[in-house]
Amino acid sequence: MSAATWTTADIPDLTGRTAVVTGPSLGGIGYVTALELARAGADVVLAGRSQAKLDASAQAIRSEVPEAALTTTILDLTSFDAVRRAAGDLETRGPIDLLVNNAGVMWTPWATTADGLELQIGTNHYGPFLLTGLLLRQLEAAPAGRVVTVSSIGHTMARKAPLDDPRIKPASYSRWTAYFGSKLANLLFTYELDRRLTAAGSSVTALAAHPGFAHTHLVANGRGFGPLSRVFNASYGLISQDAAGGARPTLMAATADLPGGTYVGPGGPKEIVGAPTVVRSTRLSHDAEAAGRLWDLSQKVTGRSWL
Ligand SMILES: NC(=O)c1ccc[n+]([C@@H]2O[C@H](COP(=O)([O-])OP(=O)(O)OC[C@H]3O[C@@H](n4cnc5c(N)ncnc54)[C@H](OP(=O)(O)O)[C@@H]3O)[C@@H](O)[C@H]2O)c1
Repeated sequence: MSAATWTTADIPDLTGRTAVVTGPSLGGIGYVTALELARAGADVVLAGRSQAKLDASAQAIRSEVPEAALTTTILDLTSFDAVRRAAGDLETRGPIDLLVNNAGVMWTPWATTADGLELQIGTNHYGPFLLTGLLLRQLEAAPAGRVVTVSSIGHTMARKAPLDDPRIKPASYSRWTAYFGSKLANLLFTYELDRRLTAAGSSVTALAAHPGFAHTHLVANGRGFGPLSRVFNASYGLISQDAAGGARPTLMAATADLPGGTYVGPGGPKEIVGAPTVVRSTRLSHDAEAAGRLWDLSQKVTGRSWL
């Protein structure tokens, strides 16, 4: 396999492996990720906040892969209680070979999670941080557990690490600053997690991916674009790849023979579209001091200390 020409045909046989994919709604990157993992034979847990949407995704996957081994788990990343409940439900699953932290929101108006956190960083970072910590024991029980977290080109726009207390409303709220910060958090988290796993002698690795621009429900779900929303969504469609293209970096990070700390994205110009390949992230994303502080803050905010 050459990294530059990776395709879904390179996904190995995953029979006997268990994968948890968050945010697998139809039309999104998580859906295609779950579909391709199921096609390769993995037992896939679809983890999302709406049972109706989970059922629709399961039905669509089964229409393409009739033998797919699928289960569903309700997971709402905007509530630590709900995340703990989801992890409790998953406890019976035994070893988990792969956790894909895919679910996310973008450009949402000011709102808070059930625990009072700003919505974007709460959904995109703090919920996944807690979920990963709660599932670590099961990831360690697999021969080579892997955590893949989906970041974004948007992380390059973040000017500083998101180290402010997410429960305190900033003097002025910027939707983009909050989104970019949450996507930088995905990378700070991934690299710090991988460092801590290595230091602990764990068999689990942490990798990250980004889809470039992919035409999914992310823009529409941002809400608040008002009458411009249709225009914006349609223009986004013109410059982006489809959800399948957007899922390929995640699938490569999830299944290719790559070391912990690897970041995968589209190989085309500006990483917007194209076949997946190993890409670089910003210097700020590799700031180990900031990553350590974010880890400490995340433990404090979620109330769970791990690694
Ligand atoms: N599309 C792009 O161009 C792009 C670019 C950069 C990064 N990304 C990243 O790619 C990932 C997937 O996004 P997408 O483009 O596939 O968008 P999408 O179609 O909107 O999918 C997002 C998924 O996250 C789920 N989700 C949102 N809030 C949740 C919560 N509180 N609890 C559990 N699940 C929740 C959604 O569930 P519902 O269906 O219930 O809302 C949906 O399944 C995100 O992390 C995003 O930041 C996407």
